[in-house]
Amino acid sequence: MPSHRFHGSKPLRGSLRVPGDKSISHRALMFSALAVGQSTVSGLLEGEDVMATAAAMRAMGASIKHSDDGVWHIHGVGVGGLLEPAQALDMGNSGTSTRLLMGIIASHGIRATFTGDASLSGRPMGRVIDPLSMMGANFESSEGGKLPLMMRGALPAVPIEYRLSVASAQVKSAVLLAGLNTPGTTTVIEPVPTRDHTERMLSGFGAKLEIEELNGERAIHIHGEADLQAQHVTVPGDPSSAAFFIVAALIIEGSDLVIENVGLNPTRAGLVQVLREMGGSIEEMNSREIGGEPVADLRVRHSQLNGIDVDPAIAPSMIDEFPVLFVAASLAKGTTRTSGLEELRVKESDRLTAMASALSAAGANVDETEDGLVIKGTSGGRLLGTTSEPVTTHLDHRIAMSMAVAGLASRDGVEVDDTSPIATSFPNFMELLEGAGE
Ligand code: S3P
Repeated sequence: MPSHRFHGSKPLRGSLRVPGDKSISHRALMFSALAVGQSTVSGLLEGEDVMATAAAMRAMGASIKHSDDGVWHIHGVGVGGLLEPAQALDMGNSGTSTRLLMGIIASHGIRATFTGDASLSGRPMGRVIDPLSMMGANFESSEGGKLPLMMRGALPAVPIEYRLSVASAQVKSAVLLAGLNTPGTTTVIEPVPTRDHTERMLSGFGAKLEIEELNGERAIHIHGEADLQAQHVTVPGDPSSAAFFIVAALIIEGSDLVIENVGLNPTRAGLVQVLREMGGSIEEMNSREIGGEPVADLRVRHSQLNGIDVDPAIAPSMIDEFPVLFVAASLAKGTTRTSGLEELRVKESDRLTAMASALSAAGANVDETEDGLVIKGTSGGRLLGTTSEPVTTHLDHRIAMSMAVAGLASRDGVEVDDTSPIATSFPNFMELLEGAGE
């Protein structure tokens, strides 16, 4: 368990490029593995979570290779062509791999066992087991709908119309992916929009997908059985990884940092909007489209942030960015109130409790409520930092990186108990951080 002390930082300057988007990388591998022919993926995130997806797709028959120029070559088996994996699929820490693959397998006539680390084994899978059972798949899960679990896909599966009861792109995607090999039309209705990478990329691979607005809700129809055609995918930089550098540059005096190639899909860009509302200077430069996704370079300058009440309606478009927003709020002038964030309790850790206790230990003024945090900021003054015990990351990469950023804005530094989870989503985080400090 490598612990690390993150010391108060000099201004962040120059430019850097964050790795590929995690959500898009998972989907690029999965859809390429389900396509007919040879796909290529450039800019793939080579983090542990995405590698868990690669290993699972290989175990089910796809050929996935990495060439020296950094491009990945995937030879797909075609929708319906997955083989039964000989061994349990080890999903590590990755909820996205687990839930999306459960969807894919649900309409293949194969069995699979899913295992994961302690964090993943504590997360609820009932939210995907329910709709996929309605489509005909069978599940034997551990108590409470958790991993390890065994499933058997249905062939043919039955198309359903399913209204999401939690705003979750993973649940939406699981049902749509099950719909790929299901005869007829499978429909997902989402009352609140969540990240739409699955819809965008499936259309790019040639799936027949229709999206309509129905009484303020989004209905997504997928027509099976689908034929996916091999594609060349370019993955944009991950806004959820850029988030740590955006906040760091905003709160560290004298900073002026350019973060290149950041994905700005509107279903992901909530943090930028909230930080601007707080007074953050974030300029979009060189706006363009990469792989069907809006992308820009972001110039971020140190700014005095003001506390705000964050509208809970924006939560799905920044669901992974709350831990680092809490760090920004800790340095803001006045009080920041967040609510409607129950979902944060079932991420890689309970992110409300984990961040409340870690930030308090670092000297921030934080109150935890049932569904959010209330944070009184220091008006730009540095946090004191941790003196005795290190803060606990609970196998959660985003807690580790958020508290690293808190450390940069502290007087005495913040000791993080375990930095190893950072490798799940951002393998070169420490290196970039060292390079960005003037
Ligand atoms: C993801 C969806 C979100 C997000 C996760 C990645 C995806 O999870 O938190 O990091 O790639 O679909 P939920 O679907 O649980 O909100």
